[in-house]
Parts: sequence; C-alpha cells; structure tokens
Amino acid sequence: MNVLMINGSPRRGGNTSIALKNMAEVFAKNGIDTEILEIGGEDIRGCIACGKCGQTGKCVFDDSVNRAAEIFERADGLVAASPVYYASPNGNIISFLDRLFYSTSFDKTMKVGAAVAVARRGGCTATFDVLNKYFTISGMPVASSRYWNMVHGMSKGEAEQDAEGIETVRMLAENMSFLIRSIALGKEKFGLPEKGKMTFTNFVR
Ligand SMILES: Cc1cc2nc3c(=O)[nH]c(=O)nc-3n(C[C@H](O)[C@H](O)[C@H](O)COP(=O)(O)O)c2cc1C
Repeated sequence: MNVLMINGSPRRGGNTSIALKNMAEVFAKNGIDTEILEIGGEDIRGCIACGKCGQTGKCVFDDSVNRAAEIFERADGLVAASPVYYASPNGNIISFLDRLFYSTSFDKTMKVGAAVAVARRGGCTATFDVLNKYFTISGMPVASSRYWNMVHGMSKGEAEQDAEGIETVRMLAENMSFLIRSIALGKEKFGLPEKGKMTFTNFVR
C-alpha cells in the first residue's frame, strides 16, 4: 500500500515539509509506503485547455505532472499539502493538481484523499476547501482528523512548535491509514461501487 504526497511549497525543509514528514512517519509505522513530491520549486505551468489529454490520457506538457500520474494510478491515497498564499493554495499546487486530475482518466474511486494547509495565520480553511475539491469530484473518500488539517508557522521550522497542528496531521495519517486498509478489505469482499451513467448537461436543458 502506498500514498503519494504532493508538497506545493518551494521551501525545501519548510513548514509544509515538516507536516508531511510527520505524516510519513505515521504511515511508515502502519506499513504504508510514501512518496513525497516537492513541486514548489518547479516550473509548473497551468492547464491550457488544449484537450489533448482526452486523446492520450496524459498532459501535453511532459513534466512532473505526468510522472506523478503514474505513481498516483498505483497509489491507495493522495495527500495534497500547500502553504497558504493569499488565503489560497499556492499557484504551483493549483496548476499541478488541475493538470493532474484533468489529464488522467484512470479510476480514482476509493483512493483516499487528504488536504493539509500550512500558514502563518489566516486562510487555512479556504485552502483546505480548495484542495478537497479535487478529491470530492473524483469518487475519492476524504480522510479527516480531530481538527481541520492546518499547521501554523511563518519562518522555516516554526511548524515544529505548533504542537496541536502536528498532532492533527499525525492523527490524520492514522485515520487515513485505517481508511486505506479498510477500503482494501472492502474492495476484496464487495468490489468497487457500481458506476452509474454519466450525463453532462452543462446547465443546458
Ligand atoms: C506569497 C506568500 C503569500 C502568503 N500568504 C499568506 C496568507 O495569506 N496567510 C498566512 O497566514 N500566511 C501567508 N504566507 C506565509 C506562509 O503561508 C507561511 O510562511 C508558511 O509557513 C509557508 O510554508 P512553507 O515553509 O512550507 O513554504 C504567505 C507567504 C508567501 C510567500
């Protein structure tokens, strides 16, 4: 079993990394492998709506989005973690997730998702909400903790001092591990849910 973790921050070893490192420790304890992709320092461009992915199943820009897609296809869960920039996820992770989710047609049903927001002070719940939207349009159950998944810190390393935030993301990883393992058993016993028919109306009746 494995979880792909995306870090939107450009700061290596920054506060988002600290949150993910804590989660990775809990996953390891539970026998779940992790791969952390630090995409914050990369030149990730946004989706240009060319529609080529509809024919090829991958993004026309052959960068870490396509590499992440291969890992994501095999993964049992996805963690999207972002520093808060102007009360939203940072630009890199938005561009990355737009292209990752839009360009891939493999089934994401029952891959468990979790979002983590990291900020000095404000904008965490808005960020959390935006990140969760990728999961909830994809048949992905969302793991939760005992507080919304936010960690506070400004300068590199300050997140270590946010005891409640660190406990929240560790608990999140515990709950996500449980969900991943339970879904694996459920899939064996009951299979995946049936796919209903899908009609696009675009609000035109
Ligand atoms: C461009 C920019 C915008 C930011 N906007 C916010 C914000 O809206 N709210 C906030 O609390 N912190 C804001 N911050 C602070 C970061 O969220 C904070 O330093 C966080 O710990 C960065 O995480 P990192 O170390 O993983 O990069 C901003 C930082 C930058 C560089």
